Amino acid sequence: MQREQGVVVDPDGEVTVCCGATEGLNLALMALIDPGDRVLIFEPFYENYIPNLATAGGCPVFVTLEPPAWTLHPEVLLPIFEQGLKAVIINTPANPTGKVWTMAELQLLADLCDRFGVYIITDEIYEYILYGGTHHSILKIPAMRERAIVVNGFSKTFCVTGWRLGYTIANPELTAAMRRIHDFLTICAPTPLQHAAVMAMDFGEAYFARLAADYQRKRDILFPVLERIGLSPVLPQGAYYIWTDSAVLAPESNAAAFRLAQEAKVAAVPGNCFSDPGRAAVSGLRFCFAKKDTTLQAAAENLLRLA
Ligand SMILES: Cc1ncc(COP(=O)(O)O)c(C=O)c1O
Repeated sequence: MQREQGVVVDPDGEVTVCCGATEGLNLALMALIDPGDRVLIFEPFYENYIPNLATAGGCPVFVTLEPPAWTLHPEVLLPIFEQGLKAVIINTPANPTGKVWTMAELQLLADLCDRFGVYIITDEIYEYILYGGTHHSILKIPAMRERAIVVNGFSKTFCVTGWRLGYTIANPELTAAMRRIHDFLTICAPTPLQHAAVMAMDFGEAYFARLAADYQRKRDILFPVLERIGLSPVLPQGAYYIWTDSAVLAPESNAAAFRLAQEAKVAAVPGNCFSDPGRAAVSGLRFCFAKKDTTLQAAAENLLRLA
């Protein structure tokens, strides 16, 4: 946090190492949310947020961002804050959209959170997987030191999703609340793996640059193919997914995903997995390009036969 964002945090009082960002998110929600509390979630969202919030008894309130720019509209946000919120969840760089929140967008949200006394949970797990832009942590905004819980982890940065290593950063009061839950939930993340992660954090600039360059190459194998077959993909600025439309395949995303699996042997996640479960028909597909180049090339050949 200090090296990348220039934000000094106290490792003893403000950092909690846990079993993946998944545990971190659950700790944040269990510590903050009482049954019935309203939590703002931007749609399309990372699908875990809904079951995680349900476990804590919270109620999601959705704001839909539209492709291709995924722009934030302040006039939509204000009434939602006025109606009462306990927290907001954001994810930057984002799964499934690839959106990287700008400092201006973070500031807009931070101002609203400050004004209405709302907490903000930011999931920053793809911080190093960027294609040109800059990752800003919400903790760069001084007022957010009181109101933000940052959730992060090693799964994506060091390609070790199975290790289950993550962490939260929050002020000492919020950290104490989360640690109380963490202690009874998992006690600790595996110690040997924590030692390995400490070494990995010092891999140096070249490692992080190569990580992003490798994913950019993979993105650039898949993206033009999705364009060619008429799916109108949105070029991701970060993370390792491409969001597309699905209307040319089928009127609804589940049917589109089934068609792709059957006809091209390519599995994409249907857009409805990332949307308000109350919405009827959703368009959209999410393609993951965190695959071997040879796998992506084979997928490209199959997809192009659909063109
Ligand atoms: C946005 C986002 N947050 C959190 C996670 C889970 O991370 P972890 O493996 O650290 O639990 C994922 C994994 O796909 C993700 O995409």
